[in-house]
Order: sequence, then structure tokens, then C-alpha cells
Amino acid sequence: MAEKEDNLMEKIVSLCKRRGFVFPGSEIYGGLSGTWDYGPYGVALKKNIENSWWKRFVLDREDVYGVDAAILMNQEVWKASGHVATFADPLLEDVKTKKRYRADHLLETAGFDVRELTDLEMDELIKEKHITSPDGNVLGPIVRFNMMFKTHIGAAEDDSAISYLRPETAQGIFVNFKNILDTFHPKLPFGIAQIGKAFRNEIAPRDFIFRVRELEQMEVEFFVKSDTWKSHFDALLNQQLEFLTHDLGLSPSKIHIVDVPAADRAHYSKHSVDTEFDFPFGQKELLGLAYRTDYDLNAHTKASKVDLTYFDEENKERFIPHVIEPTFGLGRLFLAVIADSYREEGEGEETRVYLKFKPSIAPVKIAVFPLLKNKPELVAKAREVYTLLKKEFGTVMFDDNGNIGKRYRRQDEIGTPFCVTVDFDTLEQGTGVTVRNRDTGAQERVTEGELVTYLKAKIFVD
Ligand code: GLY
Repeated sequence: MAEKEDNLMEKIVSLCKRRGFVFPGSEIYGGLSGTWDYGPYGVALKKNIENSWWKRFVLDREDVYGVDAAILMNQEVWKASGHVATFADPLLEDVKTKKRYRADHLLETAGFDVRELTDLEMDELIKEKHITSPDGNVLGPIVRFNMMFKTHIGAAEDDSAISYLRPETAQGIFVNFKNILDTFHPKLPFGIAQIGKAFRNEIAPRDFIFRVRELEQMEVEFFVKSDTWKSHFDALLNQQLEFLTHDLGLSPSKIHIVDVPAADRAHYSKHSVDTEFDFPFGQKELLGLAYRTDYDLNAHTKASKVDLTYFDEENKERFIPHVIEPTFGLGRLFLAVIADSYREEGEGEETRVYLKFKPSIAPVKIAVFPLLKNKPELVAKAREVYTLLKKEFGTVMFDDNGNIGKRYRRQDEIGTPFCVTVDFDTLEQGTGVTVRNRDTGAQERVTEGELVTYLKAKIFVD
């Protein structure tokens, strides 16, 4: 089982590179661990996931406002938020090689569930079970390592110039809370959403784009009255699930809702529920939902001395709202979508690999082929069909390279749900075109007049 799953990861990484979804970062210089670059189909898939998210959590709602805040923020933000003091991983040092490892990862690899353990308990377990480093050496005690990337703003390199690459997009929302109140005057409950880069100096990046140093987050901070938090929490959990299963088409059987125990919760959270997914390397966190209470707005009120209260016109009360935070990692969603879609059929040379994306999020929706490349009348007609479909669907590809079988194989590997072929019958008898279905391989004849309606019904089916 494990071998098969490992193998699946290798196949996915290889397909992503071969077909232009994801490349290793800085590859011509030997790479840079924990960074990945998205190629044309990767960008297209990522944007489709991102747009589906923005649609569900912002555009389709009247109570969520979008922002796009700066990545670099005043260092006081991170002191107030608690990240300078507590955003740290438990690290162990191999006393001989001085290499560092994450204590929780080493224990998990050795088969222990560490989710409820404190640092002291992990230390004790390591001693008791004689757990060594991967090189077989003794490990030192756990020390905490702050995961924020530190930098300096401007020419001076003293402490006053310190800044950090943001480790979460959330704080860019909290510091704009007052701006949204003052300019839009929203009534509670309401949310502020942001999509953007975040950075974490992971000590052990791994599992392809799953654990990386530069990531993209999609987050909503949803502001509520404190006594209503639970109903909003439940409603947002439901929205997260709908997003995964309906919008992205992920298999419900691979999705698991897990209560996060107190010891494992982020410093700001009073209640957290993770949504985990069966990745090829095991069941791991895909996204999170946290009840951040009034922790952040309170902390920023104290530190900035700016009033971040909300005035309730109805009850004439002034208070700091509480926050529910749905948080998503775009890269993890991307990996979940690819892994869940990956299919192999047949054996050996005859193996057909295809990505069974939900059609609405596929990077290329339709490919158009002339049956033969060297027949100008076929090519001209195919280009006419291509132009028509491109106007309607946007991401449409024209391909006349190699034989039809090879073209199908290429489109299957990038998950194109429909291939449209123009042949001699299209020209001579006006019998329309052949539409081939990625998942079944079945081909249907569709008249040109019906083609757009036919494809729309199949691609944007709800
Ligand atoms: N904002 C929550 C997180 O970054 O995990």
C-alpha cells in the first residue's frame, strides 16, 4: 500500500513537470528547497481554484469585503499578534551532525500520535523510546524556532528596521478592520477576505507542494457578536465542505473533519476544526477553521492604541467583535485536486493516464483538432470552430501535432474534458464535429449549431 502510494506521488510530480503544471523553484541553479514555480497549466488550474473560492466566499455574498494588503508590515503587527513570541516549531538537534529536525515529525514517523503532547512530553517520549536522529545519533532537547522570515526595511539594519514576510494573510485583514468599518459601515456579522502569499521558514519542507516555505493563502476573517460564534462557525464549516466537494469536485470519502485538541491549537484559537484529506502520503491537514475570539483585535487595540471597537446601533453598545476564520492553502488544494483526479487505465504501453478534473475547474476546457494537419480545408474549418469556442469558453486549445491518438493522450494528461475533431464529414456532409469525452473515451457527433450549448451544459453542469 505505502509503496503504491509513494509511487503515485512520484507519478504526480513527474506529470506536473512534464506537462507544465509545476516546476521546482530556481531549477537551473539546483533548486531552492520548499519553493515551486507554477507553469501555464498550473497557473490556469490555480486561478480556477482561486476564482471558485472568491466567488463562493466573496462575490456570491453581500457580507464579505475583499482586501489585498501589503506583504511587508510594521514589525509591531507581529509583536501584537503573538507571532514574534509564539510562532515557532519544536526543533531537535542531532548532537553530532548539528542537523535539525522537527520533534513532532520524528515522533510521527516513529508511529506516535503527538497531537496532544506538550514539548516536555515529547522530550520524555524521545528519551524513553530511545528515538535517534535519522543518522542514528542522540538528539538534544526541544528548542523552539521562530518560523517567520526576518528582513530589514531600508538601508539601516538595526532593530528598528526589522520586518517580516507575513506568515499569514490574516493580519493584513485585522489591520484594515477599521478602514472597512469607516468606509463601508458594515453591520455585524460581516467578513473581510484576502488571497495572497505568506511565508514560513519550514525546517523540513516536504511532500511536493504540500509543505513549502512560500505559500498562497485564502482567508476570511468573519466578525460576529460573541454569543453567536457557534452558529457562524458551523455555517462556515459547511461552506468549506461545499467548496471542496461541489466547487472543486473532491471525493467526499477522502475528506475528514477533525477537532483540533487544545494543545495543538494555534495560540489565538479557542476552538479549531481541521479538514483533512487523504493525500497519497496519508491523511493530512487540507484547511482550517478557527474561532479566534477577540484575540487579534484586542491585541491590536492595546498595541496600536487605536480604537478597534464596533458600535451596535440597535443596542447602543460598543464592543470588539469576535472572529471566525476559515483558512485555506491554495497549494494544498491544488495538490488535493490533482491527486484526487489522477487516473490510470490499461497496462504497459497501452496505459492511459488522465486527470479527471471537474470540467469547470479544468485548466483547458476544450481542445480542437483538424483530423489531418496537411489538409488546408480541414485546418481552416477547425480554426473556425476553435475561434468560436475560444470566444465562448476562453481556455480552448488548438492542436494539430502528431496523430489523433497522441493528441488525445496529451489532453488527457492535462485533464481537458472535451476534444472536438473536425473531419471530412464536417466539410462534405455538414454532419457536425466529433466530441470525445475524456472520462469515457466515448465520441458523439454534434452539429455545429448545437456545439456551444452542448458543451456549456456539460462543462458548467451544477
Ligand atoms: N491564519 C491562519 C493560518 O495561517 O494558519
